[in-house]
Amino acid sequence: MNEEKDTIKIGVLTVSDRASRGEYEDKGGPAVIEKLKSMLTSPWKAVYRIVPDDVARVEEALKELCDVEGCALVITTGGTGPSPRDITPDATEAVCGKMLPGFGELMRSVSLEKVPTAILSRQTAGIRGTTLIINLPGKPSAIAECLDAVFPAVPDCVDLIGGPYLETDPSVVKVHRPHGKH
Ligand code: MTE
Repeated sequence: MNEEKDTIKIGVLTVSDRASRGEYEDKGGPAVIEKLKSMLTSPWKAVYRIVPDDVARVEEALKELCDVEGCALVITTGGTGPSPRDITPDATEAVCGKMLPGFGELMRSVSLEKVPTAILSRQTAGIRGTTLIINLPGKPSAIAECLDAVFPAVPDCVDLIGGPYLETDPSVVKVHRPHGKH
């Protein structure tokens, strides 16, 4: 096996003015990476980026992770709320050819069982080329809850858009793959 070629790249993009300026430690990006480590058994590596809540910077980072790095999946964390600087879902929509609103609907629904303010997140998901982009809130507990909810559908989605075959630990996440191996 060609290890370099077979290693699946997953983009982890933290969107935060203060964390990008180093005013506080980024907790979201590492929480995404830890959660993915617990779920995935395929060889993969994180391509980590951190940018401020600036729509052009988020779009540029998403394009680089999809088009230059060739990530199969990009997970953003932060900037999904209603504040004026929260623009991650808008930047995501601007770079995607197709949106997958079911991701946001499910994540808000499971989050609502935890906090009433779950409805404030505009988190969504979409496809750019052969990359699936998923938005998560910035809070580490929200990251785990949201990924637990949507991940059973992620490998099938990645298959359907022409991405690599993602394998997971069935004791952690039960993947549903109705379309089989492509
Ligand atoms: N989802 C979960 N599971 N847990 C949470 O604590 N916080 C909510 C919401 N979703 C939350 C959650 C709140 S308070 C906000 S403002 C939005 O996510 C947006 O968060 P973000 O701006 O960090 O993306």
